[in-house]
Amino acid sequence: MKKILIDCDPGIDDAIAILMALAAPELEVVGITAVGGNVGVDTTARNALALAALAAGGAPDRQVPVARGADLAMFAEKRRAESVHGIDGLGGVRLPEPSWPLEKIPAWDFIRDAALRSGGSLEIVAIGPLTNIAMTLAAYPAAARSIKAIHIMGGSAGLGNATPAAEFNIYADPHAAAAVFQSGIPITMCGLDVTRRASLTPSGLEALKAIGGRVLSPACAMLDHYLAAYRGFGLNALALHDPLVVAHIVDPSLVTFRPYRVEVETEGKYTTGKTVVDIHGIAKRPPNAQVGVELDVVGFIALMTRLLCSYDAPGGQGSSREAR
Ligand code: RIB
Ligand code: CA
Repeated sequence: MKKILIDCDPGIDDAIAILMALAAPELEVVGITAVGGNVGVDTTARNALALAALAAGGAPDRQVPVARGADLAMFAEKRRAESVHGIDGLGGVRLPEPSWPLEKIPAWDFIRDAALRSGGSLEIVAIGPLTNIAMTLAAYPAAARSIKAIHIMGGSAGLGNATPAAEFNIYADPHAAAAVFQSGIPITMCGLDVTRRASLTPSGLEALKAIGGRVLSPACAMLDHYLAAYRGFGLNALALHDPLVVAHIVDPSLVTFRPYRVEVETEGKYTTGKTVVDIHGIAKRPPNAQVGVELDVVGFIALMTRLLCSYDAPGGQGSSREAR
């Protein structure tokens, strides 16, 4: 089993990623930390806890700890995405009330503790702005030695989505992203180059709705809202950005990566938040990230479907660990 911690800003695609990870027998989710991004951190933290409660299905041994982190970047103005995820961050879909509280310690303390407890095996799934990760590394530099890898949804070797040049997670806190890419910790980067192609069509969503299930049905309700937002941008399929990160950790065959040098622009008038991916090695600097370049979208959708349906399987993830 891979030991992972999810740092996120749920957010509808974060929600799907969290529900996939909590269903995957290949993964042990040691905790979830929330960061401000799509919506404010009070909401992302509440959403993360509610999603963990949905996944737990009332099983007392499935209460994954959730810690609240930073709301804003240190040097960038507030950037949100309520137009995509809704004011509540989950498209207005109501989830069960959690039966356990948020952790009392902040995200950066939780991440440090989880890294030290893991003995160097902790892999971080970073699917929101990287503020919490950068704060952990700044507050506890030694923690970096206990983090095996950071799997990022963020950036792009090509165009952006928050600006013409920058992808949202990096744009929301470019200085934090620069610190993470310079940390020396092994990084996989699923940028828009691959996540834009991790797409679900309206007919694909209808097929998922027809299956239904304890977790799949509310997930589809969130995706309905997400698809409507994409249609508002003139697009007729939604991009499952964050879920692709969980998918490639579960099944490494789903995404092809190449080693590249990635620098983060923090001072450009039009390019702040851009990940400058040196595909041709022009700067002659050593690679600092494995960058996703190809994906198996059919395999990805099949894995996502299998994981979200597993909550309804006998002895599935919604039951207690002992029963599996
Ligand atoms: O650009 C896509 C990313 O920004 C995703 O993580 C989505 O949840 C938003 O945070
Ligand atoms: Ca996200």
